[in-house]
Amino acid sequence: MSRRPLIAANWKMHKTCQEAKTFMAELLPKIADLKDVDVLICPPFTLISTVDMGRDGSKVLLGAQNMHHESKGAFTGEVAPMMLRDLKCEFVILGHSERRWVFGETDDMINKKMHAAFANGLIPVLCVGEKLEEREKNLTDQVILNQLEKNLAGISESFVSGIVIAYEPVWAIGTGKNATTKDAKDAIALIREYLHSKYGQEISEKVRILYGGSVKPENVKTYMDQDGIDGALVGGASLEADSFAKLTRF
Ligand code: 13P
Repeated sequence: MSRRPLIAANWKMHKTCQEAKTFMAELLPKIADLKDVDVLICPPFTLISTVDMGRDGSKVLLGAQNMHHESKGAFTGEVAPMMLRDLKCEFVILGHSERRWVFGETDDMINKKMHAAFANGLIPVLCVGEKLEEREKNLTDQVILNQLEKNLAGISESFVSGIVIAYEPVWAIGTGKNATTKDAKDAIALIREYLHSKYGQEISEKVRILYGGSVKPENVKTYMDQDGIDGALVGGASLEADSFAKLTRF
């Protein structure tokens, strides 16, 4: 089965409104002729509307980088799923390693957010991946499987088939030290095998699985050429329109 490739930008905590506007104005003409690739931008909350206005007339998809699982209430500083829908977000990154390891998000919290995404019609980009010390202790597979099992607990099969999963080894994020294509391919094959054993072949073949971690215009093709890798989730190299546009031409 062929899955549509997806190139996703995670801007993390970068850019002002003006910078986001300029980025969109520069990006759109560069990707106007793209046909067979989905392009997703996940800006900080403050720039979601700016990117939405800037994507007008294009097929660019819009996502957030996080959300709270509750629909409303006394949760100072948090953003609810419906608020993202209200701003026209279609996607939401959940379980990014910076949320897990810098802000202490647990697998249980991420699972609640997955359920909230389902309930609110948002497509999650669920991030999983091991830390360096876990890789060095040969725990990579165990860590990934444990994250999948806990983060997807109780999620309906029909919803799973539409989600996106990103394999992002923590040691490769923002370090310039990208995973080898073999490491990425093996981890992604493991994720697909897990989906196959849990949900069956049809669903496992529908889920798009991305690689993330120091992806750049110079190395994107080596990942995209691997069987089973359906796209990339990109931090640093997604911040300039020119570099991000190049990433879509793998
Ligand atoms: P870098 O591309 O900057 O390594 O970041 C990867 C990432 O965390 C994307 O979510």
